[in-house]
Amino acid sequence: MTDTIFVTGASGHLGSAIIDHLLGSQGVAASRIIAGTRNPEKLAKRVASGVTVRKVDFDDVASLEKAFAGAGTVLIVSTDALDGAGTRLRQHKAAIAAAAKAGAKRIAYTSLPVPDVSKVSFAPDHLQSEEAIKATGLPYTIFRNNWYAENLFMALPQALASGNWYTSAGGGRTAYVARDDIAAAIAAAVATPPAASVTYTLTGSEALTNEEVAALAEKILGKSVAVVQLTDEQLAGGMKAAAVPEAYIPTFVSFDAATRAGNLALVTSDVETLSGRKPQKLSAFLEANKGAFGA
Ligand SMILES: NC(=O)c1ccc[n+]([C@@H]2O[C@H](COP(=O)([O-])OP(=O)(O)OC[C@H]3O[C@@H](n4cnc5c(N)ncnc54)[C@H](OP(=O)(O)O)[C@@H]3O)[C@@H](O)[C@H]2O)c1
Repeated sequence: MTDTIFVTGASGHLGSAIIDHLLGSQGVAASRIIAGTRNPEKLAKRVASGVTVRKVDFDDVASLEKAFAGAGTVLIVSTDALDGAGTRLRQHKAAIAAAAKAGAKRIAYTSLPVPDVSKVSFAPDHLQSEEAIKATGLPYTIFRNNWYAENLFMALPQALASGNWYTSAGGGRTAYVARDDIAAAIAAAVATPPAASVTYTLTGSEALTNEEVAALAEKILGKSVAVVQLTDEQLAGGMKAAAVPEAYIPTFVSFDAATRAGNLALVTSDVETLSGRKPQKLSAFLEANKGAFGA
């Protein structure tokens, strides 16, 4: 059982895509894969394909060691807790401790770029999660995932509809990367892990300013949008006026502050090196998702 690959968050977008790539492009036998999720009933199709499905909830600490029993590599997909109250770090630490206790041979984890300096509000959670993994003494694979191109599904349609894209990112650049490219790279890395510990930064192949993204949107989606540069305070005020829940505003503003600081601009070749395929350019992503952007 030591070469089994345990993927948490298996019903989420990324976890699900990683398992698809393990079974598909990586040709990993279903019998080597354990899919962990809070809702096993959602993964009946996985069971039918021969994948083992187990219930995994990082909030149910007492259950975790048993849940990870027999896992060779435990890939911890970071959770989506955004409450700013330390929930995410507590969840990750519980999972890391349980994986180590259960006898995992390697821990893999999805982090974010430059967690030691990043201005993203929850970067310290990722940094401390990485540190907790290193403290186990087990070999590790850390994937520092850059901004998903899919994040544009949240901000861009509204900006295109109104004609204004409010931002405090200044001239900061983002090396957007399609989530499926990240999944392909992670699947390749966990299917045949190196002996040593390793940290990858998974990014797109080009880093673009918001103005450059707006120009691409105009060309490909046929809608013009003006990038309106604000201060962080002005951006927060605009979000409040737009009834964005106040608890989330500092986090959302921190994304622009991080962009302005260059925290999302790093471009690496890790996606291609691991997966053997070139990451999708943002222009191709917009072209492939015209409908989702209302074009
Ligand atoms: N780089 C980026 O731009 C970016 C953007 C968004 C998110 N992220 C991060 O990447 C992760 C994966 O992205 P995604 O697109 O797959 O997000 P998603 O579809 O929203 O999935 C969220 C994931 O969190 C897991 N989760 C939540 N609470 C949990 C708990 N108590 N115990 C165990 N697992 C829990 C869920 O697992 P189950 O529901 O299967 O239990 C699910 O897989 C996110 O959770 C977030 O940390 C990165």
